[in-house]
Amino acid sequence: MTAGPSSTSGAQGETPKPGEHARVLSEILAERIRRGGPISFAEFMRECLYHPVHGYYSRTSARRFGDYYTSVDVHPIFGRLLARQFAEMWELLSSPRPFTVVESGAGVGRLAGHILDFSARELPEFYSALEYVAVERSVERRAEHSARLAVHAAAGRSTSAGEIPRAISAGCIFSNELLDALPVHRVVIQKGSLQEIYVGFDGGRFIEVPGKPSMPALEQYFHEQRITLEDGQQAEVCFEACDWIENAGRALGRGFVLTIDYGHEARALYDAHHNRGTLLAYRDHTVSENILDAPGEQDLTSHVNFTAMDLWGRRAGLVRTGLVTQSQFLVALGRANEFGDLYDPAQTEMEKLRARLLLKNLIHPEGLGEKFQVLIQHKGITTPSLTGLSGY
Ligand SMILES: C[S@@+](CC[C@H](N)C(=O)[O-])C[C@H]1O[C@@H](n2cnc3c(N)ncnc32)[C@H](O)[C@@H]1O
Repeated sequence: MTAGPSSTSGAQGETPKPGEHARVLSEILAERIRRGGPISFAEFMRECLYHPVHGYYSRTSARRFGDYYTSVDVHPIFGRLLARQFAEMWELLSSPRPFTVVESGAGVGRLAGHILDFSARELPEFYSALEYVAVERSVERRAEHSARLAVHAAAGRSTSAGEIPRAISAGCIFSNELLDALPVHRVVIQKGSLQEIYVGFDGGRFIEVPGKPSMPALEQYFHEQRITLEDGQQAEVCFEACDWIENAGRALGRGFVLTIDYGHEARALYDAHHNRGTLLAYRDHTVSENILDAPGEQDLTSHVNFTAMDLWGRRAGLVRTGLVTQSQFLVALGRANEFGDLYDPAQTEMEKLRARLLLKNLIHPEGLGEKFQVLIQHKGITTPSLTGLSGY
């Protein structure tokens, strides 16, 4: 989709006033609605997050959840254990050269840095076969991760791209917290029939406008997954995530697709606990349901439907290898050397203790460990046995 009229306010190099992105983006979106009528929530969310100038993720400074942390920020152990899992996948595929690891939604390259640095140091044979492609939609973020990964690019081990390569002969396509940041359509059941929730503009603010679904695919989506929503229930549908996994599957010759995200199987995602849907806005260290406020200045997320990822993946030849919690995944991978990968050379006992405490955040049920799930799918290999899935 094309973005609305572009403004130079807030462009690279300038420091916009607080609230400036929201002010300009609100004008762009309000004008679009005045001209063409209410827009789908997917269109609204796409502009809020990805407008080339005013979108939340068009800025390198935007940090997920503000003050909250993501697994990548906690400790490099997250990337190090992922590197071990990729190295095992490489061996299971008979150590092809190159072995392509595509990270979609690589952002500013923090996770890529952890994976590549560790591979270079601890897994030299794997590193020598590795072709790491950091894929990122935002131009500014691509520039930042390219600078961060320069040493690996110079060694011929990493490149940067705006899209997943079209043909990957052997490798793993993975993402961490990408799919929950993709635009969603919103629906609600009213008097037994499915309505889409559009975004309108009235009285100087964005409002919800229920109407006929913009496409039959919305009803088919629930029908295919045998989901019946209750009267009054709201839900989200992320066709971009479906397309993403199908494209990933088609691009892959032999190998794996690994998805780490906050989400559920369809039955749990669309149950009574989530009868207002799962969309949330994160801004200035607070979480809210005010998803129509301050376009471009708050992060928007909704939970991933892993059943849909399975269904759409199958269309491209992907077979489910397993779905585990992040905690199960990391513990299974770390167990082999009693989490020795936590430590850096020459660390003091105090630093080691701190590292152990940080690890708890990644695997503890109250931390990130049980909130995030890891879905692995495979193609062109028969029933692979992966250490990361061995704990379930
Ligand atoms: C929530 S951030 C996660 C960043 C990083 N994976 C991490 O764990 O810290 C999502 C990132 O995905 C990028 N993104 C969104 N859609 C994308 C797409 N279709 N292809 C590539 N990158 C995308 C966004 O610009 C953003 O940098």
